[in-house]
Amino acid sequence: MVRSRVNLSTMVFLLILHGAAVVLFFNWYIRLNPCDGIPSNRKIHVVLLSSWRSGSSFVGQVFSQHPSVFYLMEPAWHVWTKLRNSGAQTLRMAVRDLMRSVFHCDFSVTDAYLPEHHNMSSLFMWSHSRALCSPPACSLTPRGYFSNQTQCLQTCGEVGLQGVQEACFSYSHVVLKSVRIFELESLYPLFEDPSLDLRIIHLVRDPRAVVRSREQSAKAFVGDNAVVLEQKSMPPAEIQYQVIQEICRSHVRISERALQNPPSFLKGRYKMVRYEDVARNPLEEISAMYDFVDLDMTNQLEEWIYKLTHGKGKGSLKEAFKITSRNAADVSQAWRTTLPHNKVKRIQEVCKRAMSLLGYTTVNSDKEQKRLDTDLLVPREPYQFSWLPQKTEHSSNN
Ligand SMILES: *[C@@H]1O[C@H](CO)[C@@H](O)[C@H](O)[C@H]1NC(C)=O
Ligand SMILES: *[C@@H]1O[C@H](CO)[C@@H](O)[C@H](O)[C@H]1NC(C)=O
Repeated sequence: MVRSRVNLSTMVFLLILHGAAVVLFFNWYIRLNPCDGIPSNRKIHVVLLSSWRSGSSFVGQVFSQHPSVFYLMEPAWHVWTKLRNSGAQTLRMAVRDLMRSVFHCDFSVTDAYLPEHHNMSSLFMWSHSRALCSPPACSLTPRGYFSNQTQCLQTCGEVGLQGVQEACFSYSHVVLKSVRIFELESLYPLFEDPSLDLRIIHLVRDPRAVVRSREQSAKAFVGDNAVVLEQKSMPPAEIQYQVIQEICRSHVRISERALQNPPSFLKGRYKMVRYEDVARNPLEEISAMYDFVDLDMTNQLEEWIYKLTHGKGKGSLKEAFKITSRNAADVSQAWRTTLPHNKVKRIQEVCKRAMSLLGYTTVNSDKEQKRLDTDLLVPREPYQFSWLPQKTEHSSNN
């Protein structure tokens, strides 16, 4: 009797020991087996979901230059460009499937969208990705250094997609930027894929500033507008309002889906960021985005962000946003002096819900519009999606 009891507890002990050994060995094996890079079920996958002219190129760079990130700009561009006589609604599943493949570092799907003889230079805006200018894709920029797009463009373009794939495998984070996603439902299978760990950063901007910025290069948007509007024909003067209406609707649709009674797989996986908050508090907002996707802020990155936001050079954030003081005239305010009030009124009408949801105050007269010392941005509690009553600048700063 006594003997068998001892045996039983010994057995239990040995079983636990065995289990621990298996777990330890498995961890060790995963860590020491670099040939497949970071196993896909340990990687973090991020969609930087935004819209045209909403600061996503800058925020994209903030991810692209992070040493742990494989970044790719807009794989969806390939789908929209190849199938340009279609509509966004029809193309959304092809976009989803392309993104899923890229998250899995499988670039074979791009075959369908690229020219017959393709290489890295066939990928849209490839030189904006630091990872594509660094080993193993290209030897130009050592890992951990900041890349120079001009030099990368001259040096790295002829790498084959195999090199792109190898690069993708070797990072802990894959970040894809897209301005061509108008709802979250098509992405549900990606949230539910056990080998993906998907997070969405939803970057939005005041629609009045978006319209003003889009007007400056209206021709560039003709093809995309037709896809957004499902190829419907309409008077040319209507197009910009219909497009911004679709964009605003998508902001409402996406944030409501993610924040009001979301399916369980969506909880904690969505973060909304306003461009204006990034322009005003870049370091805080960027740190919060990094936190959200489990990336560390490094001293080097902090320095780089400081330079971008305080420098005067071309391409600096300060130059791009024309930030002159915290509350007043950054480039986000330029619409207030350049857009006619009747246009502003129309944008406010088609974007009413989005603006109140996102915290952009409407103006009711031309006079109000031009009174630049009135801040139209409703302050937000940092890192939360809840609007607070007006606070002093100092206390909303921490
Ligand atoms: C990038 O490289 C180009 C060409 O070598 C150079 O002229 C430019 O100043 C560099 N840009 C930065 C930001 O270092
Ligand atoms: C890479 O692609 C570019 C553009 O399609 C082409 O001009 C070049 O010859 C290609 N290089 C290789 C090595 O395939």
